[in-house]
Amino acid sequence: MRQDLYDDLLNYFFSGSVISVHCNQWGDTGKGKILDLIMAIAKIGERPMGADNCGHTMVINGKKIVTHMIPSSIMHDAQGIVSVIGRGVAFNPLTAYRELKMLMDSGETWENLKISFRAKLTMPYHILFDRLNEARANPDKKIGTTGRGVGPVFQDHVGRMGLCVRDMLDADVMCQKLYHVLPDRIAFLQTLDPQLIREILHHDDLENGLFFHPTEMLDVDAIIVRYLEHGKFFKNVITDAEKYVRSHVGKSTIALEGAQGALLDIDDGSYPFVTSSRCTVAGLAHGAGLREGDITHRIGVVKAYQTRVGAGCMPTEIGGRNAVEVFARDYKQHSAISDFSLLINDPDPVIQGAAIGRVGGEFGATTGRLRRIGWLDLVALRYAVGINGPEIAITKLDVLTGIKKIPVCVGYEYCGSDNPAIGLMHGQILDVMMPENDILEQCTPIYEILDGWDEDISGAISYHDLPENAQRYLDFIEVRADVSIILISVGPDREQTFFA
Ligand code: IMP
Repeated sequence: MRQDLYDDLLNYFFSGSVISVHCNQWGDTGKGKILDLIMAIAKIGERPMGADNCGHTMVINGKKIVTHMIPSSIMHDAQGIVSVIGRGVAFNPLTAYRELKMLMDSGETWENLKISFRAKLTMPYHILFDRLNEARANPDKKIGTTGRGVGPVFQDHVGRMGLCVRDMLDADVMCQKLYHVLPDRIAFLQTLDPQLIREILHHDDLENGLFFHPTEMLDVDAIIVRYLEHGKFFKNVITDAEKYVRSHVGKSTIALEGAQGALLDIDDGSYPFVTSSRCTVAGLAHGAGLREGDITHRIGVVKAYQTRVGAGCMPTEIGGRNAVEVFARDYKQHSAISDFSLLINDPDPVIQGAAIGRVGGEFGATTGRLRRIGWLDLVALRYAVGINGPEIAITKLDVLTGIKKIPVCVGYEYCGSDNPAIGLMHGQILDVMMPENDILEQCTPIYEILDGWDEDISGAISYHDLPENAQRYLDFIEVRADVSIILISVGPDREQTFFA
């Protein structure tokens, strides 16, 4: 790592810091890269919440590896860095097992991994119900989930019917809980189309039919056997992770790796098109078993533009609602284009948005879906930093290079009918987002247009290396959203980052 970057890290984060790296948008902002940077000075890296619905891409010895369950800090395991999966996580043992195998094949170790015995356990029927719900929902009610069972796991948890990681270590408890929970569900499954259930259960994520039973639909015994095997595999790393992390507060530098983003948070996000866990700083602290006040630094990651995957409104979506799908359907002649950078100024916003997405490599790491692309939305950012705090890291600034005019959303005009009960009147200008999806649908973004820059910024190592218009873009964000930009990232490499 560049010496100046390392020195800046040491200056900014004192020893014993608890650092939250979370997202202030709809996820996929490049948290992994910022976290990887911070791991140069941290002793513990924790995934406190989320599930295997998010993906983190790492390059190890030139080989690209994507993990969904195992914290990215595992890359530093051989140096004695501890990686923790906290109690707020929906733990899918199959995903974790496969990732650890892959890491071992690449020569990595996992001696310092710790998994909270309180983490929620993702069971095959959670994945089945997630996929069934999506398959059976009306098109306008589909959430566009990642199909990882997240909603059903957390439903079971709050419904007090969930299993947790330590249940994999005890055959009696596992049997007792499953035979309590499953009969009703099996009875319900038997009322549905068996072919659909069969198809879903024959997916590789569900071990290609291992849990399918031709009459019962679910083979409970097969689930029990498999989960007890998982228990044996993980038994040495299952522990009281919360106690461990708490005992290190103030003594070792701890980095908390957020998943998803503030606008996908179950309570603070664009409900109902949200994930089912807490993605804000409070959620990270809670998932780790810490007090929010234990967190000494809050780094909210913000992409220089916006993306969203799955359903739900993104007011600044370039080209309008779900332009990604419109592009795929209506612009077949562009499917062979290899250099989308030539189209980032296209007058047709559907093409322009698609081009920015391709230049930015905006494909979901978990599902491979194309992400929807939007202009930076300061109304949403003001809302998110109101929850998470004003310190932010700006990522992917380089993706905007070459765009002649860059719109930034500075306000929403509410175009719905008067709703005095919630303080909304037709024609009102909102400068802070109200995140409920039905309200967002009624909001029209108001833009200010900034001049872009053509200079290659991917080699910049300080604010002063940036062209004037890129500096103006950042200054505009700071002043108009009342945030403090701490870090700036101008490329995928760890070195392409600097303190502002
Ligand atoms: P779930 O978390 O799979 O239930 O999906 C709920 C919503 O959150 C869907 O719109 C997903 O696309 C979105 N989502 C879940 N995980 C991520 C992520 O890591 N990045 C971006 N969106 C996500």
